[in-house]
Amino acid sequence: MRIVVTRRIPGPALEILRAAGEVWLPDEDRALSPEELRKAVGGASAVVCMLHDTIDGAVADAAGPGLRVVANVAVGYDNIDVAALAARGVAVTNTPGVLTDATADLTVGLLLTLTRRIAEGDRLLRARTPWSFHLGFMLGSGLAGKTLGIIGLGQIGQAVARRARAFGLDIVYSGRSRVPAAEAALDARFVPRDELLATADVVSLHCPLTPETRHLIDAAALAAMKPSAYLVNTTRGPVVHEAALADALERGEIAGAALDVFEHEPEVEPRLLELDNVVLTPHLGSATVETRTEMAVLAARNVAAVLSGQEPPNPVRG
Ligand code: DGY
Repeated sequence: MRIVVTRRIPGPALEILRAAGEVWLPDEDRALSPEELRKAVGGASAVVCMLHDTIDGAVADAAGPGLRVVANVAVGYDNIDVAALAARGVAVTNTPGVLTDATADLTVGLLLTLTRRIAEGDRLLRARTPWSFHLGFMLGSGLAGKTLGIIGLGQIGQAVARRARAFGLDIVYSGRSRVPAAEAALDARFVPRDELLATADVVSLHCPLTPETRHLIDAAALAAMKPSAYLVNTTRGPVVHEAALADALERGEIAGAALDVFEHEPEVEPRLLELDNVVLTPHLGSATVETRTEMAVLAARNVAAVLSGQEPPNPVRG
């Protein structure tokens, strides 16, 4: 059985796949173009793909009737048309759980980098700018007693909330539904989104990208935030209208933003690159050796399960 893997993956995952079928890997480790992807998947029983690979009905048709599973090496699966694949009898799987801590750690890192101006200070020194300690120098914003507004209190949102508690932040959240167990465990308060935007000192995004959440943070949402508030996005870029964010930052409508994901990834809105109160990282949420290995292994186990006629451990149901 032909297993197409669209990018290089860690050895332990490759071993699992090689035991399950004949693995095809591209010669170069780069994102395949849509044409290259359609060509590569021809005759595949399984495709192991990355979040930048768009997998729709046309890709499934290019693979042919033997395609049984598409395993995304990511928890988010907005790059996959799950309904189109289900209609063709193809299982879709993702990698929940294993990247929760890594992503929450990065979120908190970005939050601190932004509010305490860490990257800005680093740039100042590297530019060999003369400086001396004084009481008004490079002041940031403290966190204790402030309010963190989490949009989407799923696994990652909850892991961020747990960490935020240690910094003395109060937690409010909004989302599609309430999470009573997390409310009790984290002393988190469910509020309507409008109230969250108007009251939070930091807004952190953890909802999946869906048609409903695309551009959730648009010009109106940004205008509703406090001028002293910060925005952190470690979920998916298109949840934020990036041009509207650049406008809001240029006009001082909010205090700053930290982004790990981008609307037109890997492109970044050029105006954001010019702003000192913006922290940018290149989609590093899950980027630890341990986590990336676990993600790939999980994807491989999902493939192996389906190809041997079993239920995959992490099915996605559209
Ligand atoms: C995911 O798994 O969806 C993350 O964005 C990868 O870092």
